[in-house]
Formats: sequence, C-alpha cells, structure tokens
Amino acid sequence: MTDASRKFVTPLTFEAVSGNKVHTDTFQDALSHITLTAAADLMIIAPATANSIAKFACGIADDMLSTCFLSFRGKVIIAPAMNWRMYENRALRENLRALVSRGAVQAGPERGSLACGDEAVGRMSEVGEILEYARSALTRKDLSGKKIIVTAGPTREYLDPVRFLSNRSSGKMGFALAREALRRGAEVVLISGPSSLAPLRKAEFFAVETAEEMRKAVFENLKGSSAVIMAAAVSDFSPDTKDRRKKEKSDVLSLPLKKTPDILAEIGSMKKRPFLVGFAAETGACTDRARRKLLAKGADMIVFNDVDSPGSGFDVGTNQVTLIDKNGESPFPLMPKDEVAGIILDRIVDFIP
Ligand code: C5P
Repeated sequence: MTDASRKFVTPLTFEAVSGNKVHTDTFQDALSHITLTAAADLMIIAPATANSIAKFACGIADDMLSTCFLSFRGKVIIAPAMNWRMYENRALRENLRALVSRGAVQAGPERGSLACGDEAVGRMSEVGEILEYARSALTRKDLSGKKIIVTAGPTREYLDPVRFLSNRSSGKMGFALAREALRRGAEVVLISGPSSLAPLRKAEFFAVETAEEMRKAVFENLKGSSAVIMAAAVSDFSPDTKDRRKKEKSDVLSLPLKKTPDILAEIGSMKKRPFLVGFAAETGACTDRARRKLLAKGADMIVFNDVDSPGSGFDVGTNQVTLIDKNGESPFPLMPKDEVAGIILDRIVDFIP
C-alpha cells in the first residue's frame, strides 16, 4: 500500500480481510521489494493512480509499490482510477501508452459515477473484470488466430406476440465456453438466446430469440471459423403458426407443432465444415442416445450431461459431462462450468489445425 492509499484504508483492514501481510515500507525488510516480486507470476495495480502510473512510466522507485514495480519481471495489469479530467490529461495518457507498449495490460477505466459526482470515464473496472484480465494473462494462447462460434442459452418459439415455448437453459455453459476461448486467445462469436448473463466484452455478441434467428446468425458467421460449439438448448419444436394478435384462451387448448431447423445437423452435413461440437442434455445417465446423436447429426464431438443428476445441467454453476467422439467416451467428475469449458477446448485444440 502507498502512503496515499493509507489515507483512505488502513493496512489492518486489508490484513484482516485478505489474511495476508500488507507491505508499506521499503526499509522495514531490506529485500522485500525483491523477494516478493521474484515469487510472483502476476502483478495487479488496482486502483492505479495518475501518480503511480507516472512513476512506473519513468522508472521512479521511491516507495514500496514503485520499487516492487521496477523489480518485477512478470505480467502486469494496471487498472487506472481517477477523475476524468486527470484521465484525459496528455501526460497521463502518454505514461499509460508507454506502459502498455512495454507489455502491461490496461484494464479500464469505465464510465460511471465518479467521486466528484460527475458521470464520466475514470471509474476503476469491476473486480470481476480485472480478474478476467488476470486469468487471461495467465492462460496459454493455444487458440490464437482461431475463430470459434459458440451458441448459448434457450430459444423462444412464439405462438403469438405474448406467449412462447422455451426451456430452462441459463446460458452459463455457453458463456463459460466463450470466456475460456477468449482467454486462450481465440476470436469468439457468441450467439445467445435470452439470458440474464451480461454479454462478454471481447466477444462478438449476437442476441437472438428464435431457432430460426439463431440459425441465421450461425450461418452468417460460419465462414473462416475453426470450430462451432452448439451449447444452446435450441427448442426442437415451434408452434406451427404464429398469430399476429394474442390468441384467445379457448383457441390454444391444443397446439400443433413443427420441427425447428436443426442447426447442428445442417452444419454436420456440409462437405467442408469447421470442427463441430454438440450437446446432449438427457434425463438419465445412459449415453446411448448421445452416441446416436453423434452419428445422426454428423458432429465431431457430443458433450453428454444428465440434467437430472444433482449439480449438473440447467441453471447451476457446475456440470458433470461425458465427452463422446468416434474414439469412445471420456467421463469426467462434477466440476465448475469454467473447468468443463477448459476440457472441451483442450479436445478441440487437439483436433483443429
Ligand atoms: O436433438 P437435440 O436437441 O437433443 O440436440 C442437441 C444438440 O443439437 C445441441 O448441441 C443443440 O444446440 C443442437 N440443436 C440444433 N438445432 C435444433 C435442436 C438442437 O442445433 N433445432
């Protein structure tokens, strides 16, 4: 912590909440500004003030933070936070540019309400966002130069302007896949049905509603893609007709349905196509149907999950999957969806040129 930061929060507070020692004085332990940084993989400066940024850019080392910065050899993430007038200052901008050109990653700042009451750019990025930069900085870029299309969430099939058929998909698995592919350096196109999750900043994002709209978005983006991962729970049926006006209650006692376009199967039947991954959400642990789906849809891999088993499937942060391809089945234990995304992408990396 710098002298200035200790005017706002005491070191004791940070020690208590983090369970770690807080370093403030370069001379308290003669070598700490070397030993601490030598043991670290990543340095995050958050919030980074205009003063600290200027010192880093010029190589000034006159306190614990700036000496640590100067001795550190790993990846650096800088999350500026200051008044918008300071952030627009040319000296600050040139200092930041110098740091970025030397390899530092700049995270933010964001537009928002500042301490002075103005609504402008200068707010420190959300902690989750800064952590995402940290994860990305520590991830091997084994998908760099690859374009990956990911579909996520449910679709909605309308019977009239008010009512629709849909399913329980939250979009979590698809978004986790898109996030992990971004961390690994891929160019990501994320096509999602209605979901409460925030679009990923670095992905090209398409919000769709119906299976037909999802199909259109997938095919418009297909060119140049190395893999398509269909994590969306595309509705298999839609009402045979859609009324322009809200139907009378008495008119919908039975509902004729038609099949939606099967996007996965349509790509699967193409002669030249990207690596193709489908999902099979089933109730029950038997993988027979999923294995049949691999063949019927012409996919390269099917991710099977039993949505009935606890902690797996819809709306939870974890999933228990079996990866099925022409070589056989690989079952995995229950794990966070981020990790499931990791093992799926590991497989894809092995297959795509
Ligand atoms: O046939 P089923 O719906 O179980 O297949 C699931 C897989 O097929 C998922 O990957 C899903 O995204 C995809 N799918 C599709 N188009 C449909 C229905 C499912 O691409 N109309």
